[in-house]
Amino acid sequence: MAVVAVIGAQWGDEGKGRIIDEMAAQTDVVVRFQGGGNAGHHVWVGDTQFTFHQVPSGILSPNTHCVIGNGVVIDPPALLEELRDLAKHGLDMTRVHISDRAHVIMPYHTLLDQLEERDRDSSGAEMIGTTAKGIGPAYVDKYSRIGIRMADLLDVDQFRTKLAYVLRFKNRLLTQIYGHSPLSLEEIHHEYYAYARELKPYITDTRAYLQAALDDKQAILLEGAQGSLLDVDFGTYPYVTASSTVAGNASAGAGLPPNSIDDVIGVYKTYITRVGTGPMPTELHDDTGEHLAIRGYEIGRTTGRRRRCGWFDGVLGRYAAKLNGLQSAVMMKLDVLDRIPTLKVCTAYKLNGEVITTPPANLHLLAACEPVYEELPGWGSDTSGITHAAELPTNARAYLERLEAIIETPIAAVSVGPKRGQTITLR
Ligand code: IMO
Ligand code: MG
Repeated sequence: MAVVAVIGAQWGDEGKGRIIDEMAAQTDVVVRFQGGGNAGHHVWVGDTQFTFHQVPSGILSPNTHCVIGNGVVIDPPALLEELRDLAKHGLDMTRVHISDRAHVIMPYHTLLDQLEERDRDSSGAEMIGTTAKGIGPAYVDKYSRIGIRMADLLDVDQFRTKLAYVLRFKNRLLTQIYGHSPLSLEEIHHEYYAYARELKPYITDTRAYLQAALDDKQAILLEGAQGSLLDVDFGTYPYVTASSTVAGNASAGAGLPPNSIDDVIGVYKTYITRVGTGPMPTELHDDTGEHLAIRGYEIGRTTGRRRRCGWFDGVLGRYAAKLNGLQSAVMMKLDVLDRIPTLKVCTAYKLNGEVITTPPANLHLLAACEPVYEELPGWGSDTSGITHAAELPTNARAYLERLEAIIETPIAAVSVGPKRGQTITLR
């Protein structure tokens, strides 16, 4: 049995949850290793739609255990609500294991996320367009070494002492910089102490748990959140999330050794989308962009915002493939392209008269990049009912083969609709 990492290869929302769900039946443990409630992983079971924010997308498989790893930042009330909702569906929640080393998103994190965005806006800087879940401020505290971890939450006295210390700073920031009213130590302590008691049965040393699973040769899936282009180092900084979203962090964020990972799968859409601010070279502002948004139902599950849509960006696609060392790719939402007569794929950028094939770090330069497009004929027929690769229209197959060549990675599967079973295995 193997350890497999499933990574978003674009700006998030590629369909990672869906792929994890389809693989989960053959998996013993699914692990989230970074991010938090900013993720919105979406799975359809029959006519029921599940959206996972913090719980791994493997929970729907009755025998699969789910780990929220040390690299994740956890919002207790939101997580408890998610656990309660899932329990209503008759799912056994004792399969959820939360790392005692994971950091806690506190009320001041969520508040500061919103205040910082408002401040960017009013000072003329461009807003990042965060999900307002407190993710960035929670990671800031983690690296400032003033974060509160799950283990601290369980230790009543420690928690109060730590919280009192941190809250002194946060209240100064809230009142003196942002003109906000201060937060109450008593109230937060009381509220989070109650959450700690409720979460206690789930909190454990997940590194040890995963090491035991590894020794036992269990199948483990590492579920990436966000996407490689939102990675704090390799994404379109500063319009990125605050964690490392690439395969390189899957091991550290879960507490598994790097050489335990056997396979890395990248999830892409057959076009590209992005929510929030930042350059997007292949973005479409025309009817085709509108068509992709409507046919692809491109509305964010976490924020309700409409996603920006564009042609498949092969420069960024190949960059993500190399960065993550993808052994294979999965292409989602082929059916969304069904009615488009001529498709375009970006193979390079033109920048100041030069042709480049890798994205520049300087965002002004990236924004100035003009995509070099190659045109491919569409297939003009409905692919959503197709279940075997041989039934795919010739032009659809040619499109996928071209993407495969551009990202230099074999495409293992392609999805033709949102439901379970609408995934066609190619290899
Ligand atoms: P999944 O896992 C798409 C984006 C936000 C914003 C930026 C920073 O569903 O693919 P943050 O709240 O993380 O500080 O916001 O990152 N973003 C996502 N976009 N899918 C996601 O997750 C995202 N998580 C964060 O829109 O631009
Ligand atoms: Mg999302």
